[in-house]
Amino acid sequence: MRSHYCGSINESHIGQEITLCGWVHHRRDHGGVIFLDLRDRDGIAQVVVDPDTPEAFALADRARNEFVIQVKGRVRNRPEGTVNPDMPTGAVEVLGKELEILSKSDTPPFPLDEFVEVGEDVRLRFRYMDLRRPEMLNKLRTRSKITSYIRNFLDAEGFMDVETPILNRATPEGARDYLVPSRTHEGHFFALPQSPQLFKQLLMVSGIDRYYQIAKCFRDEDLRADRQPEFTQVDIETSFMDEDAIMAVTERMIREMFKDLLDVELPQFPRMTFAEAMQRFGSDKPDLRIPLELVDVDDLLEDVEFKVFSGPANDAKSRVAALRLPNGSVLSRKQIDDYTKYVAIYGAKGLAYIKVNDIEKGVEGLQSPILKFIPAEAAMSILSRVGAENGDLVFFGADKSTVVNEALGALRVKLGNDLDMYTYEWAPCWVIDFPMFEENGEGGWTAIHHPFTSPSCSVEELRTDPEHALSRAYDMVLNGTELGGGSIRIHDAEMQATVLEVLGISKEEADEKFGFLLNALKYGCPPHGGLAFGLDRLVMLMTGSNSIREVIAFPKTQSATCLMTQAPGTVDSRQLRELNIRIRKKESAG
Ligand code: AMO
Ligand code: AMP
Repeated sequence: MRSHYCGSINESHIGQEITLCGWVHHRRDHGGVIFLDLRDRDGIAQVVVDPDTPEAFALADRARNEFVIQVKGRVRNRPEGTVNPDMPTGAVEVLGKELEILSKSDTPPFPLDEFVEVGEDVRLRFRYMDLRRPEMLNKLRTRSKITSYIRNFLDAEGFMDVETPILNRATPEGARDYLVPSRTHEGHFFALPQSPQLFKQLLMVSGIDRYYQIAKCFRDEDLRADRQPEFTQVDIETSFMDEDAIMAVTERMIREMFKDLLDVELPQFPRMTFAEAMQRFGSDKPDLRIPLELVDVDDLLEDVEFKVFSGPANDAKSRVAALRLPNGSVLSRKQIDDYTKYVAIYGAKGLAYIKVNDIEKGVEGLQSPILKFIPAEAAMSILSRVGAENGDLVFFGADKSTVVNEALGALRVKLGNDLDMYTYEWAPCWVIDFPMFEENGEGGWTAIHHPFTSPSCSVEELRTDPEHALSRAYDMVLNGTELGGGSIRIHDAEMQATVLEVLGISKEEADEKFGFLLNALKYGCPPHGGLAFGLDRLVMLMTGSNSIREVIAFPKTQSATCLMTQAPGTVDSRQLRELNIRIRKKESAG
């Protein structure tokens, strides 16, 4: 139906008869001539229709925004003075001779020919219209380029694309499962995959050696800007490769892709242990663009009378940390109060601070609500440890280490963002040496990565000191976002049994839930490991978007619904009967 895309015509087409198809982006009636900006996914071309072709003119007169039309005409130079250098097709126009209206449009829910702020709800309800906007189209185009780049890279490295099932038993990745009732097996349910983890390990037992899949994953968890209930992983698994080799090939993929698609030269990814990341940045996904660091000051506050500080300073599971903000004394009282409220979200009970006005004057030159509680030498030692200078502000967090890390870690990122402190555009890193387990709050342990991750210690050491066992897991972090995570897996039945034992999973439960994997370990399982990238997050960063919803064609809302299709929806009673499911009425309150 068409000979060219609207966005592709230029001076090389002058004099040619062409046919364009597209949407009327904008229509202007210049008394006697009608201008139609015609849009398709490639761009916009200006079509001029004059009364010399009365049939075409009459149709152009009826055309309205978002009508779909076909135009046949001749490409010509725009008259002098009307060239638009901001438009790729701005030097030319098409003199339309024949025009056909292929489809009409109601008035669009929001205008597409001018910039207006449109609420996300409306955009999601009319997503097919939202995706007509060039910004959105470009995001999808970049996403498509990224996936084909990844496929080509992995294919060339000898990885095989294998599909794994969607209807599964539950996989233990730590989130809640989406369940699908079975009609043929009453009372039984499939779980949608939280990741292809177990299947990709089984493919290694099968000898596939290098696997990848661009896989849909499903997790029923609390949603945020970088989390969706349904998201996509670039899932990778390899045999006979250790963590260095896996990190090397995946890092190379990301670096080459940034170079080829964005012309960005990423630096070598530095490696940082989990312990160091928590200590210096209060986070296992440190945003290294921001030049602020947490500094431990426990030892200087052990003996002070101020219990808020001395308590945590003397407790092994707590910490007192300082965060120096260069030139921070310009912050107003109101701003400090707002930051105090902000850290309270993360459980901080307060946000002590010292303003450094004139350090030469000792404590006289300082301003702070805590100076009356701590001795002058302690205050001065702290300032010297953090390298404070005149004009600086030093914040303090004192609590359980988890609280201080979360609160000051988040404050660090917020300050960096609010005060535009970024020193690099891109700051990647690897975080390694994660602990195997964390306390689950009920006196037991949960796996930090997943229960198939290999510890870096022996079976004996794992049994006797699970708290300090480290894992062979690694996360790739970019600008404070966890882009991907993986590990070397356990390929030894005894080690696997020990990990499950520490996790308090009985043999019966393990057999019932993933006996197939435990069995497979008995039939010649190669040493193996892998990693999965969050594709949506990668595309979000590479397109400069601030949410993964912006790079997913049809995303869900924060409350896990689709505003366009109204999913999830109710089903009719016959379907429920077939599934042997009865909906329980919500018990009325009181
Ligand atoms: P993990 O659970 O760390 O590891 O997930 C891997 C990556 O997937 C992305 N991701 C998400 N993206 C959007 N929405 C979500 N709800 C979401 N959850 C996770 C993140 C994360 O880094 N099987 C292991 C991988 C392995 O060990 O090989 C796994 O799934 O970017
Ligand atoms: P208060 O004794 O509660 O008036 O606190 C004195 C100062 O210490 C105030 O600036 C509080 O914001 C701060 N503060 C209180 N608890 C903590 C805490 N756990 N960590 C850091 N600062 C705190």
